[in-house]
Amino acid sequence: MQLGIENISFATSEYVLPLATLAEATGVEVGKFHVGIGQELMSVPAADEDIVTMAATAAQPVLEGQDLSAIRTVLFATESGIDQSKAAGVYVHHLLGLDSRCRVIELKQACYSATAALQMAVALVARRPEQKVLVIASDVARYDRDSSGEPTQGAGAVAMLVSANPAVLAIEPVSGLHTADVMDFWRPNYRSTALVDGKYSVSVYMEALRAAWDDYREQGGHELASFDRFCYHQPFTRLAVKAHRTLAKHSGELSNDAADAQIANTLDYNRQIGNTYTASVYIGLLSLLENAADDLSGARVGFFSYGSGSVAELFAGVVQPGYREMLRTSRHREQIQRRREIDHSTYVRLHDHPEGLVGGDHDIAPETTGPFRLAAIRDHKRIYETVAQVSAPADASAVGASPAVSTDTATTAL
Ligand code: HMG
Repeated sequence: MQLGIENISFATSEYVLPLATLAEATGVEVGKFHVGIGQELMSVPAADEDIVTMAATAAQPVLEGQDLSAIRTVLFATESGIDQSKAAGVYVHHLLGLDSRCRVIELKQACYSATAALQMAVALVARRPEQKVLVIASDVARYDRDSSGEPTQGAGAVAMLVSANPAVLAIEPVSGLHTADVMDFWRPNYRSTALVDGKYSVSVYMEALRAAWDDYREQGGHELASFDRFCYHQPFTRLAVKAHRTLAKHSGELSNDAADAQIANTLDYNRQIGNTYTASVYIGLLSLLENAADDLSGARVGFFSYGSGSVAELFAGVVQPGYREMLRTSRHREQIQRRREIDHSTYVRLHDHPEGLVGGDHDIAPETTGPFRLAAIRDHKRIYETVAQVSAPADASAVGASPAVSTDTATTAL
């Protein structure tokens, strides 16, 4: 029996900050961002967006035409939790009208937990192949302003329907695993921004990659040369390039050029969105499937999922014949291109005063043009609403934003 991803979609935020704007405002040579870390733009949520609105937006198209009663589990992976007790997925379950005969839970282990969710989903479906599991990964990457991590922020969500009809990607059973108690990146409960030991985080990421690879091979996994493509967790795209060259050297099987070819097209979307924590490696998968010119049917794709703290997993999947019919390439490119460019002062406002973190009762003015929004906080309860789809608000200046990023610019950037 084949098990894996039947359908997959992503969403990102309303706004976008070009890293050139950040570079100018912070006095950094822009080449450091564009070349040194390999990032061009970063998604910034509007005040009425959060992990729930992005998750519902990502999952909505995946559910179209589905028998919702078959979805008896929703696994919501995030490290940008909005409540210490209630799972964010319960709000999404309501917004999307899922069946009440369903279990919904939230999973956390930094950027890794979406992979844990995917593997748990596969195990659940193996037991009851007539059922499906909705896996959602949604995050807002936030660091202090003027910190080393600032240019590696971003926001986005991925939704994957896991079933015994893996029309997009069949997941293979072998995994390489690695857990190590390290303090490379963390966010105590009293902080809205993450703390990071940047250089150390890169070195433990590489250590985890080598260890997970060794375990993968010991568990009976394939040689590196037998992979067609490879997707990495991408806090910034340059790291994926360095990581795959590190793995090529470690395995002794591939040249740098061959390694670079294996990750081609997996970086395109992440370069435009930024770090999306749990969603990042699966946005990398969509970037590959939607931007590779060649037909990837039958291709073996490797995945390296890393979550600081740290847990890592390396596994493989095989792209299924006919996968292209399952893709939403135009919709996803539009998700990236429709974002409205903000100036530095608007970014500062949104960064320093995320609405949902304020305790008192208040309504939140409409900003997002997406289908779901956080409308208010009342009695410490988050009030979400489904909104009719509109194009960008007529008076974008009301929120300090410029008109939508021009299609030309975004197309060139992609
Ligand atoms: P930094 O220290 O500010 O940057 O931050 P740098 O000085 O090391 O420069 C970066 C690169 O740009 C260097 O290249 C420079 O030479 C180059 P490298 O030596 O690395 O090849 N550079 C230039 N290139 C072209 N033109 C120029 C120029 N100037 C410099 N003008 C750091 C780098 C990664 C530390 C920072 O971005 C950071 O702290 N990021 C956040 C942490 C992070 O992303 N870590 C990744 C591993 S941990 C992980 O993936 C988990 C995570 O997603 C969280 C989770 O699991 O939940 C973060």
